[in-house]
Amino acid sequence: MTLPRFIALIPAAGVGSRMGTAMPKQYAPLAGKPMIQHVMQTFSDSPLIDAVYVVVNRRYEYIARLPDFPRTRLLRCGGETRQQSVINGLRAIEAEVDVDDWVLVHDAARPGLDHDLIEKLIAFVRDDPVGGLLAVPVVDTIKRSDGHSHAEQTVPREQLWAAQTPQMFRHAQLLSALQSSQSITDEASAFERMGLKPRLVEGSPRNFKVTLPEDRLLAELYLKGRA
Ligand code: C5P
Repeated sequence: MTLPRFIALIPAAGVGSRMGTAMPKQYAPLAGKPMIQHVMQTFSDSPLIDAVYVVVNRRYEYIARLPDFPRTRLLRCGGETRQQSVINGLRAIEAEVDVDDWVLVHDAARPGLDHDLIEKLIAFVRDDPVGGLLAVPVVDTIKRSDGHSHAEQTVPREQLWAAQTPQMFRHAQLLSALQSSQSITDEASAFERMGLKPRLVEGSPRNFKVTLPEDRLLAELYLKGRA
C-alpha cells in the first residue's frame, strides 16, 4: 500500500472584478511579482507537497508570463465559477493521482499562506476520515441585516469561524462531493451538505483573501515582513 500524496490545486481562473485592476487580480503585481506567484512559490518550495497544479483561464495572455516552478503545471481548464474550475482541475489530474491522495485547494488570492500553515493543516487533517480546512474564529460582533442596511439581529459568534484555504480533501471524495453540490463557495460546504464535518484548523489573519483595492497594501506589508 502506498502512502497518500499531498497535491496542491490552485484555482486561478477568476476575473477579480471587485479589485478594480486592469487584469485579473491574481496576475496584478503585489510586493514585486504577480500575486499568484507567491503561492506557487510557497507550494513549490514546500517539502510536504508532491505536485502543484494551477487552474487557469485559457483566455488570458498573462499566464504565458509566469515563470516555471519545479513540480508545477498549469491546467488550462478554468470554469465559469470557482467550483467549476476546481472540478475541471480535479478531472484533469485524475489519471495522475490516486483516489486517496490529498488535494489542498488554495485560492490564488491568498498570498499570505506560509510553510507553517501548510504543515499545521496536514498534521491535523491527514488522519481525519473527512478532511479539513484552515479557518479563523470570528472576532467581530456579527450583525444580520434586514436587507436594507439596518441591523435586525446580533448573531452569537462563539461557534463562528471564517473559512480560509487550503481546504484539504481526498481526490475522489472531493470530486464526487463537488459534482453533487450546487452553488457552493468552498469545498468544505460540499461535505457539510452530505452531513459530514470537515475539521477546522486554526489559520492566520495573514492568510486573508485579497479582494478589494485597499487589501493590497496590507498584503504587501505582510509579505515584505516575511521576506
Ligand atoms: O472571486 P474569488 O476571490 O472568490 O475567487 C477565489 C479564487 O477562485 C481565486 O483564486 C480565483 O481566481 C478562483 N476562481 C476560479 N474560477 C472562477 C472564479 C474564481 O478559479 N471562475
